[in-house]
Amino acid sequence: MNEAIRITRTTAPKPRPRDSELGFGTVFTDHMFLMDYQEGKGWYDPRVEPYGPLHLEPATAVFHYAQALFEGLKAFRGHDGRVRLFRPHKHVERINATARRLCIPPLDPELVLRSWTTLVDVDRDWVPSSVGTALYIRPAVIAVDPYLGVRPSKTYLYFVILSPVGAYYPEGMNPVRIKVVDTYVRAVPGGLGEAKTGANYAASLLAAEEARREGFTQVLWLDGVHRRYVEEVGTMNIMLRIGDEVVTPPLTGTILPGVTRDAALTLLRAWGVPVAERPIAIDEVREAARAGTLREVWGTGTAAVISPVGELAYRGERIVVNEGRIGELTRRLYDAIVAIQYGTAPDPYRWTVEV
Ligand code: COI
Repeated sequence: MNEAIRITRTTAPKPRPRDSELGFGTVFTDHMFLMDYQEGKGWYDPRVEPYGPLHLEPATAVFHYAQALFEGLKAFRGHDGRVRLFRPHKHVERINATARRLCIPPLDPELVLRSWTTLVDVDRDWVPSSVGTALYIRPAVIAVDPYLGVRPSKTYLYFVILSPVGAYYPEGMNPVRIKVVDTYVRAVPGGLGEAKTGANYAASLLAAEEARREGFTQVLWLDGVHRRYVEEVGTMNIMLRIGDEVVTPPLTGTILPGVTRDAALTLLRAWGVPVAERPIAIDEVREAARAGTLREVWGTGTAAVISPVGELAYRGERIVVNEGRIGELTRRLYDAIVAIQYGTAPDPYRWTVEV
């Protein structure tokens, strides 16, 4: 399908922030992408419009029962001035995987990709250029039936907004302190854990707030059944370097199949680093720390890319990682991924798509 996208440009462009002022997700560009869905008609009227509020009735289904999905990916401006999206096809795939779990009708992958390239092209001047900055692309689908019965909606809105961003954590690449939580869980087998849906993030807030009040940056989630196995760190996937091996939990339904997780695993394997996707008990992490074999811990995610963990606190015990410093593989992965994103290194896996 090669449906035409209507473009209505703003008559009142906004001032753009300087790269040095950028935080995460506070500033939005001049335009947004919209597309509607109606049962029996399918997805229709793909269009770019000036960025602005949505007009929705208070009865709108998504406000009550959270039938929604979102994605997050980035566009980078390279030193060569070119604008590249990082692994957009993977994000399209995940949109439809999440849609299936949330009873949201599937989207045409080609049209979703075009919604991103078209919108980024319209707001091209908003893509910042300093290393560490990017244009964050936030697609979402929401259920918009004005109806209070609990059932899948018959109408939906797909929208995409853009936000020029800097570092996700104010700490930047400084190792963060993480609290291991065993009083709350993020996901259980058969639940929503592997879906990119707002409900998972709502479920995480209380634990993260409690951790923050105790001086931690984020939480480390354990599995929802045994509360023993490491699952995710904050909103990111987690990797640990124990001895000579890098270990990360397997994708068995409770953790998000991260695009940066996949990129990191691909690079590690290409570098000949032994990698295992297997369950990791928190006791194994404690014992490795005691034995001196816990060498590095990092999170992977689109927003922060690679985020070093300097300390884990579990039931009052402090597990310090690499004396709180950034590890060698953590740094190497960050540098390698960022180099591909900004086009300063070759892209052998064809992860980038130029706009
Ligand atoms: C990420 O990109 O790492 C995230 O999942 C964070 C996002 C929800 C802001």
